[in-house]
Amino acid sequence: MSSIFDHLFDTEFLNLSLQYLSDVLNLAVTVQDSHGQTVLSQGLPGGQATRSYTFNYPQNIGGLTCTAADQAALTASEPHISYCLAAINSQLAREEELRETSEEMLALSSQLNFLSKVARKIIGVEDLEECYQIILQEISTAINADQALIHTRGRWDDEVEVRLNITLAEERQLQECDCLRKPRNIEQPIICSLANGKSMLYLPIREKDGRISGQMFFLRPADQRPFTAYEKKFVGIIENIISPTFETLRLYDSLQDLYLNTVKALAAAIDAKDEYTHGHSFRVAKYAVTIGQQLALPSKELSDLEIAAYMHDLGKIGISESILGKPGKLTSEEFYHIQQHPVFTDKILQPIHLANNIIQGAIQHHERLDGTGYPMGLSGPEISLFGRIIAVADVFDALTSKRPYRDAMPVETALKILCSDVDKQFDRNVVLALLQAIQDKMPGSEFGEVSATLKFDALQNLNQFLKELTEFVTTPPTGSSSIT
Ligand SMILES: [Fe+2]
Repeated sequence: MSSIFDHLFDTEFLNLSLQYLSDVLNLAVTVQDSHGQTVLSQGLPGGQATRSYTFNYPQNIGGLTCTAADQAALTASEPHISYCLAAINSQLAREEELRETSEEMLALSSQLNFLSKVARKIIGVEDLEECYQIILQEISTAINADQALIHTRGRWDDEVEVRLNITLAEERQLQECDCLRKPRNIEQPIICSLANGKSMLYLPIREKDGRISGQMFFLRPADQRPFTAYEKKFVGIIENIISPTFETLRLYDSLQDLYLNTVKALAAAIDAKDEYTHGHSFRVAKYAVTIGQQLALPSKELSDLEIAAYMHDLGKIGISESILGKPGKLTSEEFYHIQQHPVFTDKILQPIHLANNIIQGAIQHHERLDGTGYPMGLSGPEISLFGRIIAVADVFDALTSKRPYRDAMPVETALKILCSDVDKQFDRNVVLALLQAIQDKMPGSEFGEVSATLKFDALQNLNQFLKELTEFVTTPPTGSSSIT
């Protein structure tokens, strides 16, 4: 039930009109609601001639009935009644227009608020699926959906699916929903009810060229009201704005992938120059990332660290294979030549404009905390964290790998060497992180996988050995302590 008083904001003209019709034209006037019930009456009843008029409004809001003493009086009043009615209808239309405009502005402002909130959350997030997860979560909160799913394309066009509280069985139900069986429907946003009574809002994800590249589904529980046309429109607008972002993120992700693969290929080419360093850069990258994880570095830094580690020996491309693979002792001239490889790395990387921490990590891995390293002779805080991490990862791999002049060392021996050089060559915390990583992640995990070829003196006593070594490294130096 609804009447004009539910829709007219300013009723002054309506009241004046009714007063005019009753007081000046002597009409009995009643206002009815959509069910024909009288909501207002004015003037004395008892006339013989009656005529009804309907208010002009998009929905039924009732109308007006005028009664005059006789037909002639009613006909004489008709132009006045029509004038009043036209003015009231015109006011209704103006107010409706104003209401729609303000509602649209409110909706626009809430959409802008929503987008800026999402933008703030996804800035700096480089993982594509994490971005989808944030977007799905934010839209679900905005439209009060408790389950959601995005099915779209990821890097290299592979399929990506991000779920929010939705099981595989429920996902199958969505895909088999009757309303999506008509090909025409899957190109349009749809609201429909599932067999279990839940309300489903479906939206296709479109590329810039109009092609459909995925779908979004949102679900609301059966005991709540179904999704509305406004919510469908809201998500449609958001999808329109966000889709190009999806494309950009995907492209960025693919470029990142391409870049990392190029770096890996370069590293593999360098490792291949010397049969004894085969797989060295790959293992150093794994060890470095494992240490970085142990030090709780954020994901962006871990990915930079991985790139730096892959690139750490890039400059060896400028060193002759006969020097790199020389079985015997190097002459001082040859050793000087090898010491120049971080300088070559720097020269190769500088024009690419990489992040500073990547370049520093790659070129500082032979620097020592005591300042006797190369090529710059940096000391203490002058050496970056990436440089310190890659230094430990590099030496750990070098010691545990076979060399032309010796066998691969057991892990225990390699760790003892690293620990005996903390504060001189290596950062204490980085060595501790490696000890902790070996303790936590052996066997199994990524570290376990890369360390599958490592040799151990006594694997069954490894934890006790690591505990003792950790105690040694964490004990403040006295000047007389040594590893037995
Ligand atoms: Fe190196």
